[in-house]
Amino acid sequence: MKKILVIGATGQIGSELTMKLRSIYGNDAVVCGYIKGAEPKGVLLESGPAAICDVTDAACLDAVVKKYEIDAMFNLAALLSVVAEGKPQLAWKIGVDGLWNVLEVARQNGCSVFTPSSIACFGPETPADNTPQDTIQRPRSIYGVTKVTTELLSDYYFRKYGVDTRSVRFPGLISYVTPPGGGTTDYAVDIYYSAVKGEKFICPIGAGTYMDMMYMPDALNACVQLMEANPDRLIHRNSFNIAAMSFEPNQILAAIQKQVPGFEMEYQVDALKQSIANSWPNSLDDSAARAEWDWKPQFDLDTMTTDMLKNLRAKLG
Ligand code: SER
Repeated sequence: MKKILVIGATGQIGSELTMKLRSIYGNDAVVCGYIKGAEPKGVLLESGPAAICDVTDAACLDAVVKKYEIDAMFNLAALLSVVAEGKPQLAWKIGVDGLWNVLEVARQNGCSVFTPSSIACFGPETPADNTPQDTIQRPRSIYGVTKVTTELLSDYYFRKYGVDTRSVRFPGLISYVTPPGGGTTDYAVDIYYSAVKGEKFICPIGAGTYMDMMYMPDALNACVQLMEANPDRLIHRNSFNIAAMSFEPNQILAAIQKQVPGFEMEYQVDALKQSIANSWPNSLDDSAARAEWDWKPQFDLDTMTTDMLKNLRAKLG
């Protein structure tokens, strides 16, 4: 990777990935791709180039890739699971029609492409514990349907045209920088904001509901490490299970209470979020990623909690 375009660069992952890539490859080498209404601000805008880049507009995408001589794209444009249920056609338009555009532009301009998949690519028939790398994928959410399609189309472009496509299945991502927008796993971010603000947390996900989660620094490392991996070692491409921690709401509550005594949580289960969460695995087996590109997370629930609380306290004053 020499010249990189981050599509969706002002979103939850993109805002931090853009800065990380700039720290590795140089500020001028990483273009912050955004859409109208989600303009970059502050250091993201000031530290390097930025361009309007809408995945639903192939000509616009092609022009940006040519102008900046891009050779690698991180395609982070998507609606998260809960929002997507309310706008299924838009979710498809961005997630799948958008991906066609990204892959075609990549094919024509010789770019590699990273498009994340998700734990949402699995469904209720998938083995829920230690979910294998290669297993049943029959998701029930439209977000999951677009993610399975993403995986298949990306592998298709690799096999048919040799486009260097690679991907990971992200779990719920936890960060203090840019909040997620409308996912099922968002509660595991929101709970830290409540703890730091001294408020009781209302938990929309029921007790005993396990989901895979990951601290953002590990997620960013995964993106870079996979894209830099030796292709000769990759048996899989789209997409790798990766895992760092799996917990249910009472466990994250207990981890926070160790550092914020007296912090309280009450359950008010959201039916849509709960039904989506119930259809997702409890924990993924990430041995393929460990074997093929040396994936290894750094943070567990306790070390993440210490770092989240410290940084959120600083951020919120
Ligand atoms: N965090 C995502 C969501 O909840 C899962 O990929 O939608």
